[in-house]
Amino acid sequence: VKKFLLILIVLAVGIQLIPVDKTNPPVDRQTALEIPKKVEPILRKACMDCHSNETVWPWYSAVAPISWSVADHVHEGRDALNFSEFYKGQRAKNTLRLRRAIEMTYSGMMPLQSYLLAHEDAKLTRDEKETLAEWFESVLVEVEHYDNRYSDGKGFSFVAKVRGNKALISIEGREDTEVEYVKTPIGIKYSGADVIFLIKGENEVYISVGDKEYTSCKKTK
Ligand code: HEC
Repeated sequence: VKKFLLILIVLAVGIQLIPVDKTNPPVDRQTALEIPKKVEPILRKACMDCHSNETVWPWYSAVAPISWSVADHVHEGRDALNFSEFYKGQRAKNTLRLRRAIEMTYSGMMPLQSYLLAHEDAKLTRDEKETLAEWFESVLVEVEHYDNRYSDGKGFSFVAKVRGNKALISIEGREDTEVEYVKTPIGIKYSGADVIFLIKGENEVYISVGDKEYTSCKKTK
């Protein structure tokens, strides 16, 4: 029995020597998502340890073999979704990631169960889930309508560039109009000067210019 114990101790000490990658790469301001003040504390406590380059490595991540599992979660988490390098990859992929993030936040699939054992405050309340999901939703709108051309199919077309709570609408023969986000129950609406821009879905929008009624337009590129 003594011999067995000795082997166990040597093994336990020995595996501590296997290197584990616990680095935090620098946050790239060019491609990082801008996180609003209201959202940041929630995102930080529930998601950012595994989905950003600002991981706070817990004390138990210093002890093998737990450290292997923690490092795996962080690396796989960053591969799946990294807020610190969000705009690095393809835009289409981000659409998918954000849709999944909204689902997973509401369903409680994220954060991972194992994470909650040591991070009790990462268990989100209903309000926190809503705040987080609403923000994901707004980023989703930005990703989908970042720089798109829309047309009504009868000769009228325009370009919209959505950036956070503002959008720039360029209609041929007119100066560009900046419109601002207004919260409404009927959908996502941006309005300013005499232009109202309404987002219905990924490909469908409505626009009203001056006294003209809403025109239904579809994404053309
Ligand atoms: C303990 C680490 C950890 C935490 C905390 C965590 N995740 Fe994850 N997440 C992962 C790992 C690992 C994966 C990749 C494997 C998988 O899909 O299960 C992942 C995958 C994802 C994906 C991609 C799923 C897909 O189908 O592509 C999304 C979206 C996501 N997480 C959102 C979140 C959100 C939102 C939070 C916070 C509310 C969060 N995660 C918290 C570890 C974590």
